[in-house]
Amino acid sequence: MSAQDTPPNTSAAPTGPRDTRGRPLRDLRISVTDRCNFRCTYCMPREVFGKDYAFLPHRDLLSFEEITRLAGLFVAEGVQKIRLTGGEPLLRRDIDRLVAQLATLPGIDLSLTTNGSLLAKRAVALKAAGLHRVTVSLDAIDEATFQKMNDADYPVARVLEGIAVAAAAGLGPIKVNAVIQRGVNEHAILDLARHFRGTPHIVRFIEFMDVGASNGWRLDEVVPSRELVDRIHAEFPLRSLQPQYAGEVAQRWAYEDGAGEVGVISSVTQAFCSSCSRLRLSTDGQLFTCLFAQSGTDLRTALRAGADDNTLRDLLRTVWTARTDRYSEIRTEDTARQQKIEMSYIGG
Ligand code: GTP
Ligand code: 5AD
Ligand code: SF4
Ligand code: SF4
Repeated sequence: MSAQDTPPNTSAAPTGPRDTRGRPLRDLRISVTDRCNFRCTYCMPREVFGKDYAFLPHRDLLSFEEITRLAGLFVAEGVQKIRLTGGEPLLRRDIDRLVAQLATLPGIDLSLTTNGSLLAKRAVALKAAGLHRVTVSLDAIDEATFQKMNDADYPVARVLEGIAVAAAAGLGPIKVNAVIQRGVNEHAILDLARHFRGTPHIVRFIEFMDVGASNGWRLDEVVPSRELVDRIHAEFPLRSLQPQYAGEVAQRWAYEDGAGEVGVISSVTQAFCSSCSRLRLSTDGQLFTCLFAQSGTDLRTALRAGADDNTLRDLLRTVWTARTDRYSEIRTEDTARQQKIEMSYIGG
Protein backbone atom coordinates (compact mmCIF):
# COMPACT_ATOMS: atom_id res chain seq x y z
CA MET A 1 0.00 0.00 0.00
CA SER A 2 1.42 3.42 -0.92
CA ALA A 3 1.30 6.43 1.39
CA GLN A 4 -1.45 7.82 -0.83
CA ASP A 5 -3.67 4.82 -0.14
CA THR A 6 -3.42 5.14 3.64
CA PRO A 7 -6.86 4.32 5.07
CA PRO A 8 -8.70 6.76 7.32
CA ASN A 9 -7.63 6.80 10.92
CA THR A 10 -11.25 6.74 12.18
CA SER A 11 -10.65 4.51 15.20
CA ALA A 12 -8.05 6.80 16.77
CA ALA A 13 -8.60 8.01 20.34
CA PRO A 14 -10.42 11.36 20.53
CA THR A 15 -8.04 14.28 20.21
CA GLY A 16 -8.36 18.00 19.65
CA PRO A 17 -10.89 20.60 20.73
CA ARG A 18 -14.53 19.94 21.66
CA ASP A 19 -17.36 22.37 20.96
CA THR A 20 -19.95 23.53 23.53
CA ARG A 21 -21.91 20.30 23.00
CA GLY A 22 -18.85 18.06 23.39
CA ARG A 23 -18.50 17.37 19.67
CA PRO A 24 -14.98 16.82 18.31
CA LEU A 25 -13.68 18.21 15.03
CA ARG A 26 -13.29 15.33 12.56
CA ASP A 27 -14.35 16.37 9.06
CA LEU A 28 -13.17 19.26 6.95
CA ARG A 29 -15.08 20.17 3.81
CA ILE A 30 -13.15 22.49 1.54
CA SER A 31 -14.98 24.42 -1.17
CA VAL A 32 -12.53 25.10 -3.99
CA THR A 33 -14.78 27.17 -6.25
CA ASP A 34 -18.16 28.88 -5.97
CA ARG A 35 -18.80 28.28 -9.69
CA CYS A 36 -20.70 25.43 -11.27
CA ASN A 37 -21.58 24.38 -14.81
CA PHE A 38 -24.99 23.13 -13.59
CA ARG A 39 -27.85 25.27 -12.36
CA CYS A 40 -29.66 22.74 -10.18
CA THR A 41 -32.97 24.31 -9.31
CA TYR A 42 -32.61 23.43 -5.60
CA CYS A 43 -29.06 24.82 -5.34
CA MET A 44 -28.20 27.50 -7.94
CA PRO A 45 -31.49 28.55 -9.55
CA ARG A 46 -30.80 30.35 -12.82
CA GLU A 47 -33.00 33.31 -11.85
CA VAL A 48 -30.52 34.07 -9.04
CA PHE A 49 -27.27 32.66 -10.47
CA GLY A 50 -27.67 34.26 -13.92
CA LYS A 51 -25.04 35.67 -16.24
CA ASP A 52 -24.68 38.81 -14.12
CA TYR A 53 -24.07 36.93 -10.88
CA ALA A 54 -20.86 38.09 -9.19
CA PHE A 55 -18.78 35.03 -8.44
CA LEU A 56 -15.58 35.42 -6.42
CA PRO A 57 -12.70 37.10 -8.25
CA HIS A 58 -9.59 34.97 -8.62
CA ARG A 59 -7.53 37.01 -6.15
CA ASP A 60 -9.99 36.14 -3.37
CA LEU A 61 -9.55 32.39 -3.78
CA LEU A 62 -7.24 30.62 -1.37
CA SER A 63 -4.24 29.25 -3.24
CA PHE A 64 -3.50 25.52 -3.06
CA GLU A 65 -0.59 26.27 -0.76
CA GLU A 66 -2.85 28.27 1.57
CA ILE A 67 -5.46 25.51 1.60
CA THR A 68 -2.88 22.82 2.28
CA ARG A 69 -1.31 24.80 5.11
CA LEU A 70 -4.68 25.26 6.82
CA ALA A 71 -5.65 21.64 6.22
CA GLY A 72 -2.42 20.51 7.88
CA LEU A 73 -3.23 22.59 10.95
CA PHE A 74 -6.76 21.17 11.08
CA VAL A 75 -5.46 17.61 10.80
CA ALA A 76 -3.25 18.31 13.82
CA GLU A 77 -6.46 19.34 15.66
CA GLY A 78 -8.24 16.06 14.95
CA VAL A 79 -9.52 16.19 11.34
CA GLN A 80 -9.53 12.70 9.82
CA LYS A 81 -11.59 13.26 6.66
CA ILE A 82 -11.22 15.91 4.02
CA ARG A 83 -13.80 16.38 1.27
CA LEU A 84 -13.34 18.76 -1.66
CA THR A 85 -16.58 20.42 -2.73
CA GLY A 86 -17.83 23.53 -4.49
CA GLY A 87 -19.64 24.62 -6.58
CA GLU A 88 -18.21 22.05 -8.95
CA PRO A 89 -14.69 21.26 -7.72
CA LEU A 90 -13.51 19.89 -11.05
CA LEU A 91 -13.92 23.38 -12.53
CA ARG A 92 -10.99 24.60 -10.39
CA ARG A 93 -7.92 24.59 -12.62
CA ASP A 94 -5.25 22.00 -11.75
CA ILE A 95 -7.35 20.53 -8.95
CA ASP A 96 -5.24 17.36 -9.08
CA ARG A 97 -2.29 19.45 -7.88
CA LEU A 98 -4.25 20.32 -4.74
CA VAL A 99 -5.26 16.67 -4.34
CA ALA A 100 -1.60 15.66 -4.52
CA GLN A 101 -0.70 18.18 -1.82
CA LEU A 102 -3.52 17.13 0.51
CA ALA A 103 -2.77 13.45 -0.04
CA THR A 104 0.54 13.93 1.75
CA LEU A 105 -1.26 14.75 5.02
CA PRO A 106 -1.03 11.79 7.40
CA GLY A 107 -3.91 9.34 7.88
CA ILE A 108 -6.74 11.22 6.20
CA ASP A 109 -9.60 9.95 4.08
CA LEU A 110 -9.57 12.23 1.01
CA SER A 111 -12.70 12.46 -1.13
CA LEU A 112 -14.47 14.79 -3.51
CA THR A 113 -18.12 15.52 -4.34
CA THR A 114 -18.79 16.24 -8.01
CA ASN A 115 -21.70 16.57 -10.42
CA GLY A 116 -19.88 14.04 -12.61
CA SER A 117 -19.94 16.04 -15.83
CA LEU A 118 -16.13 16.28 -16.07
CA LEU A 119 -15.30 13.11 -14.21
CA ALA A 120 -14.69 10.82 -17.18
CA LYS A 121 -11.90 13.17 -18.30
CA ARG A 122 -10.37 13.66 -14.86
CA ALA A 123 -10.80 10.47 -12.83
CA VAL A 124 -7.51 8.79 -13.74
CA ALA A 125 -5.46 11.89 -12.92
CA LEU A 126 -7.33 12.39 -9.65
CA LYS A 127 -6.65 8.82 -8.59
CA ALA A 128 -3.00 9.14 -9.56
CA ALA A 129 -2.79 12.32 -7.47
CA GLY A 130 -3.94 10.40 -4.40
CA LEU A 131 -7.72 10.89 -4.21
CA HIS A 132 -9.39 7.98 -2.39
CA ARG A 133 -13.08 8.28 -3.32
CA VAL A 134 -15.63 10.34 -5.22
CA THR A 135 -19.29 11.02 -4.52
CA VAL A 136 -21.37 11.85 -7.60
CA SER A 137 -24.63 13.79 -7.57
CA LEU A 138 -27.38 12.40 -9.82
CA ASP A 139 -31.01 13.29 -9.21
CA ALA A 140 -32.73 11.22 -11.89
CA ILE A 141 -31.92 8.62 -14.46
CA ASP A 142 -34.42 9.78 -17.08
CA GLU A 143 -33.19 12.52 -19.35
CA ALA A 144 -36.17 14.85 -19.06
CA THR A 145 -36.14 15.02 -15.26
CA PHE A 146 -32.36 15.18 -14.97
CA GLN A 147 -32.09 18.04 -17.43
CA LYS A 148 -35.00 19.88 -15.86
CA MET A 149 -33.22 19.69 -12.51
CA ASN A 150 -29.68 20.56 -13.67
CA ASP A 151 -31.09 23.26 -15.99
CA ALA A 152 -27.91 23.18 -18.09
CA ASP A 153 -28.61 20.56 -20.78
CA TYR A 154 -26.21 17.96 -19.37
CA PRO A 155 -27.15 14.43 -20.39
CA VAL A 156 -27.44 11.57 -17.91
CA ALA A 157 -25.07 9.49 -20.05
CA ARG A 158 -22.19 11.88 -19.33
CA VAL A 159 -22.59 11.40 -15.57
CA LEU A 160 -22.97 7.62 -15.88
CA GLU A 161 -19.80 7.53 -17.98
CA GLY A 162 -18.05 9.56 -15.26
CA ILE A 163 -19.16 7.04 -12.62
CA ALA A 164 -17.94 4.11 -14.75
CA VAL A 165 -14.55 5.67 -15.48
CA ALA A 166 -14.07 6.67 -11.83
CA ALA A 167 -14.93 3.16 -10.65
CA ALA A 168 -12.52 1.65 -13.18
CA ALA A 169 -9.83 4.06 -11.99
CA GLY A 170 -10.23 2.77 -8.42
CA LEU A 171 -12.25 5.66 -6.97
CA GLY A 172 -15.22 3.44 -6.07
CA PRO A 173 -17.43 2.10 -4.71
CA ILE A 174 -19.08 5.37 -5.58
CA LYS A 175 -21.75 7.07 -3.52
CA VAL A 176 -24.44 8.57 -5.73
CA ASN A 177 -26.29 11.47 -4.10
CA ALA A 178 -29.87 12.16 -5.18
CA VAL A 179 -31.83 15.07 -3.77
CA ILE A 180 -35.52 14.11 -3.81
CA GLN A 181 -38.10 16.85 -4.14
CA ARG A 182 -41.83 16.20 -3.82
CA GLY A 183 -43.59 16.48 -7.18
CA VAL A 184 -40.32 16.93 -9.09
CA ASN A 185 -38.38 13.65 -9.09
CA GLU A 186 -40.21 11.25 -6.78
CA HIS A 187 -40.27 8.64 -9.55
CA ALA A 188 -36.44 8.74 -9.55
CA ILE A 189 -36.41 6.98 -6.18
CA LEU A 190 -37.22 3.59 -7.67
CA ASP A 191 -35.54 4.34 -11.02
CA LEU A 192 -32.22 5.05 -9.31
CA ALA A 193 -32.58 2.15 -6.88
CA ARG A 194 -33.27 -0.22 -9.78
CA HIS A 195 -30.43 1.15 -11.90
CA PHE A 196 -27.73 0.80 -9.25
CA ARG A 197 -28.96 -2.44 -7.62
CA GLY A 198 -26.46 -5.18 -8.22
CA THR A 199 -23.55 -2.73 -8.55
CA PRO A 200 -21.08 -1.80 -5.79
CA HIS A 201 -22.31 1.81 -5.92
CA ILE A 202 -24.51 3.20 -3.15
CA VAL A 203 -27.36 5.60 -3.91
CA ARG A 204 -28.11 7.98 -1.04
CA PHE A 205 -31.43 9.78 -1.16
CA ILE A 206 -31.20 13.23 0.41
CA GLU A 207 -34.11 15.16 1.87
CA PHE A 208 -34.50 18.52 0.12
CA MET A 209 -32.98 21.12 2.48
CA ASP A 210 -33.50 24.83 3.10
CA VAL A 211 -29.84 25.56 2.59
CA GLY A 212 -29.05 29.05 1.30
CA ALA A 213 -31.69 31.66 0.68
CA SER A 214 -32.60 31.27 -2.96
CA ASN A 215 -34.03 27.81 -3.58
CA GLY A 216 -37.60 28.57 -2.49
CA TRP A 217 -37.63 25.65 -0.02
CA ARG A 218 -40.97 24.51 1.38
CA LEU A 219 -41.50 21.84 3.98
CA ASP A 220 -44.19 20.20 1.87
CA GLU A 221 -41.61 19.56 -0.87
CA VAL A 222 -39.54 17.38 1.45
CA VAL A 223 -40.01 13.63 1.02
CA PRO A 224 -39.29 12.23 4.51
CA SER A 225 -36.67 9.51 4.48
CA ARG A 226 -39.08 7.12 6.24
CA GLU A 227 -41.29 7.39 3.15
CA LEU A 228 -38.27 6.98 0.86
CA VAL A 229 -37.30 3.75 2.60
CA ASP A 230 -40.90 2.47 2.59
CA ARG A 231 -41.23 3.07 -1.12
CA ILE A 232 -38.06 1.18 -1.93
CA HIS A 233 -38.85 -1.56 0.59
CA ALA A 234 -42.24 -2.17 -1.06
CA GLU A 235 -40.49 -3.06 -4.31
CA PHE A 236 -37.11 -4.32 -3.09
CA PRO A 237 -37.17 -5.48 0.56
CA LEU A 238 -34.57 -3.78 2.76
CA ARG A 239 -33.01 -4.39 6.15
CA SER A 240 -31.24 -1.73 8.17
CA LEU A 241 -27.47 -1.74 8.59
CA GLN A 242 -25.35 -0.40 11.43
CA PRO A 243 -23.46 2.85 10.83
CA GLN A 244 -19.90 2.40 9.64
CA TYR A 245 -18.64 5.09 12.00
CA ALA A 246 -20.00 7.36 14.73
CA GLY A 247 -21.73 10.39 13.29
CA GLU A 248 -22.33 8.91 9.84
CA VAL A 249 -24.66 11.23 7.94
CA ALA A 250 -26.48 8.57 5.94
CA GLN A 251 -28.61 5.79 7.42
CA ARG A 252 -27.68 2.59 5.63
CA TRP A 253 -30.02 -0.08 4.26
CA ALA A 254 -29.15 -3.35 2.50
CA TYR A 255 -31.27 -5.13 -0.09
CA GLU A 256 -32.48 -8.39 1.47
CA ASP A 257 -31.55 -10.25 -1.69
CA GLY A 258 -27.90 -9.19 -1.46
CA ALA A 259 -28.05 -6.73 -4.38
CA GLY A 260 -26.17 -4.03 -2.48
CA GLU A 261 -26.92 -1.03 -0.34
CA VAL A 262 -28.78 2.31 -0.34
CA GLY A 263 -28.80 5.18 2.12
CA VAL A 264 -30.99 8.05 3.23
CA ILE A 265 -29.86 11.43 4.53
CA SER A 266 -32.55 12.91 6.76
CA SER A 267 -31.38 16.36 7.63
CA VAL A 268 -34.96 17.63 7.92
CA THR A 269 -36.96 14.82 9.55
CA GLN A 270 -34.24 13.21 11.71
CA ALA A 271 -31.57 15.78 12.48
CA PHE A 272 -28.07 14.48 13.09
CA CYS A 273 -26.58 17.60 14.69
CA SER A 274 -25.77 15.88 17.98
CA SER A 275 -22.86 14.05 16.36
CA CYS A 276 -21.90 16.67 13.77
CA SER A 277 -18.13 17.01 13.58
CA ARG A 278 -17.98 18.97 10.33
CA LEU A 279 -16.21 22.24 9.62
CA ARG A 280 -16.43 24.03 6.29
CA LEU A 281 -13.75 26.17 4.67
CA SER A 282 -15.05 28.39 1.87
CA THR A 283 -13.25 29.15 -1.37
CA ASP A 284 -12.15 32.54 -0.04
CA GLY A 285 -10.97 31.27 3.33
CA GLN A 286 -13.89 31.70 5.69
CA LEU A 287 -14.65 29.04 8.28
CA PHE A 288 -18.23 27.95 8.82
CA THR A 289 -19.28 25.66 11.63
CA CYS A 290 -22.67 24.78 10.12
CA LEU A 291 -24.09 24.23 6.64
CA PHE A 292 -26.86 26.66 7.57
CA ALA A 293 -24.58 29.38 8.93
CA GLN A 294 -25.36 33.04 8.44
CA SER A 295 -21.78 34.17 9.00
CA GLY A 296 -18.28 32.76 9.17
CA THR A 297 -14.80 33.56 10.46
CA ASP A 298 -12.28 34.99 8.05
CA LEU A 299 -8.96 33.14 8.05
CA ARG A 300 -7.59 34.55 4.81
CA THR A 301 -6.80 37.98 6.23
CA ALA A 302 -4.68 36.50 9.01
CA LEU A 303 -3.10 34.04 6.59
CA ARG A 304 -2.10 36.77 4.14
CA ALA A 305 -0.92 39.07 6.93
CA GLY A 306 1.73 36.46 7.75
CA ALA A 307 0.14 34.82 10.81
CA ASP A 308 2.23 31.99 12.21
CA ASP A 309 0.89 28.49 12.82
CA ASN A 310 0.21 29.13 16.52
CA THR A 311 -1.94 32.16 15.73
CA LEU A 312 -3.95 30.25 13.13
CA ARG A 313 -4.34 27.26 15.45
CA ASP A 314 -5.61 29.51 18.25
CA LEU A 315 -8.12 31.06 15.86
CA LEU A 316 -9.37 27.64 14.82
CA ARG A 317 -9.63 26.43 18.42
CA THR A 318 -11.51 29.56 19.42
CA VAL A 319 -14.01 29.01 16.59
CA TRP A 320 -14.53 25.33 17.35
CA THR A 321 -14.75 25.59 21.14
CA ALA A 322 -17.37 28.37 20.83
CA ARG A 323 -19.50 26.32 18.41
CA THR A 324 -23.16 25.90 19.38
CA ASP A 325 -24.75 24.94 16.02
CA ARG A 326 -27.73 22.62 15.80
CA TYR A 327 -29.72 24.18 13.00
CA SER A 328 -31.50 21.05 11.82
CA GLU A 329 -32.83 20.44 15.33
CA ILE A 330 -34.42 23.88 15.52
CA ARG A 331 -35.54 24.37 11.91
CA THR A 332 -38.93 25.99 11.37
CA GLU A 333 -40.61 27.64 8.40
CA ASP A 334 -39.30 30.93 9.88
CA THR A 335 -35.64 29.87 10.17
CA ALA A 336 -35.91 28.57 6.61
CA ARG A 337 -36.44 32.15 5.45
CA GLN A 338 -33.26 33.46 7.14
CA GLN A 339 -30.48 34.85 4.95
CA LYS A 340 -28.21 31.80 5.01
CA ILE A 341 -25.02 31.29 3.02
CA GLU A 342 -25.54 29.56 -0.34
CA MET A 343 -24.52 25.91 -0.61
CA SER A 344 -22.51 26.54 -3.77
CA TYR A 345 -20.28 28.88 -1.76
CA ILE A 346 -20.10 27.18 1.62
CA GLY A 347 -19.59 23.70 0.10
CA GLY A 348 -22.10 20.82 0.17
P1 GTP B 1 -18.87 9.80 3.56
O1 GTP B 1 -19.64 9.01 4.55
O2 GTP B 1 -17.52 10.19 4.00
O3 GTP B 1 -18.84 9.18 2.23
O4 GTP B 1 -19.57 11.18 3.32
P2 GTP B 1 -20.95 11.74 3.82
O5 GTP B 1 -21.90 10.67 4.20
O6 GTP B 1 -20.66 12.85 4.75
O7 GTP B 1 -21.54 12.21 2.48
P3 GTP B 1 -21.46 13.56 1.75
O8 GTP B 1 -20.32 14.33 2.23
O9 GTP B 1 -21.52 13.21 0.32
O10 GTP B 1 -22.78 14.24 2.21
C1 GTP B 1 -23.95 13.90 1.57
C2 GTP B 1 -24.93 15.02 1.67
O11 GTP B 1 -25.44 15.07 2.99
C3 GTP B 1 -24.38 16.39 1.41
O12 GTP B 1 -24.27 16.68 0.07
C4 GTP B 1 -25.41 17.24 2.09
O13 GTP B 1 -26.53 17.35 1.26
C5 GTP B 1 -25.74 16.38 3.31
N1 GTP B 1 -24.91 16.77 4.43
C6 GTP B 1 -23.59 16.48 4.61
N2 GTP B 1 -23.14 17.02 5.72
C7 GTP B 1 -24.17 17.66 6.29
C8 GTP B 1 -24.32 18.42 7.47
O14 GTP B 1 -23.40 18.63 8.23
N3 GTP B 1 -25.55 18.91 7.73
C9 GTP B 1 -26.57 18.69 6.93
N4 GTP B 1 -27.72 19.20 7.29
N5 GTP B 1 -26.48 18.00 5.79
C10 GTP B 1 -25.30 17.49 5.47
N1 5AD C 1 -30.93 20.02 -0.36
C1 5AD C 1 -30.30 18.82 -0.28
N2 5AD C 1 -29.12 18.55 -0.87
C2 5AD C 1 -28.57 19.52 -1.61
N3 5AD C 1 -27.45 19.54 -2.32
C3 5AD C 1 -27.32 20.78 -2.87
N4 5AD C 1 -28.37 21.55 -2.51
C4 5AD C 1 -29.17 20.79 -1.74
C5 5AD C 1 -30.40 21.02 -1.08
N5 5AD C 1 -31.04 22.18 -1.15
C6 5AD C 1 -26.57 18.40 -2.49
C7 5AD C 1 -26.32 18.05 -3.94
C8 5AD C 1 -24.97 17.43 -3.92
C9 5AD C 1 -24.32 18.00 -2.72
C10 5AD C 1 -23.17 18.89 -3.06
O1 5AD C 1 -25.29 18.70 -2.01
O2 5AD C 1 -27.19 17.16 -4.49
O3 5AD C 1 -25.02 16.03 -3.84
FE1 SF4 D 1 -23.70 22.57 -9.02
FE2 SF4 D 1 -23.86 20.63 -7.21
FE3 SF4 D 1 -25.19 22.90 -6.82
FE4 SF4 D 1 -25.98 21.26 -8.74
S1 SF4 D 1 -25.96 20.82 -6.53
S2 SF4 D 1 -25.74 23.48 -8.93
S3 SF4 D 1 -24.09 20.42 -9.45
S4 SF4 D 1 -22.98 22.68 -6.89
FE1 SF4 E 1 -24.05 20.00 11.51
FE2 SF4 E 1 -25.35 22.26 11.13
FE3 SF4 E 1 -25.89 20.09 9.63
FE4 SF4 E 1 -26.60 20.19 12.24
S1 SF4 E 1 -27.39 21.46 10.58
S2 SF4 E 1 -25.65 18.48 11.14
S3 SF4 E 1 -24.88 21.35 13.09
S4 SF4 E 1 -23.97 21.24 9.67
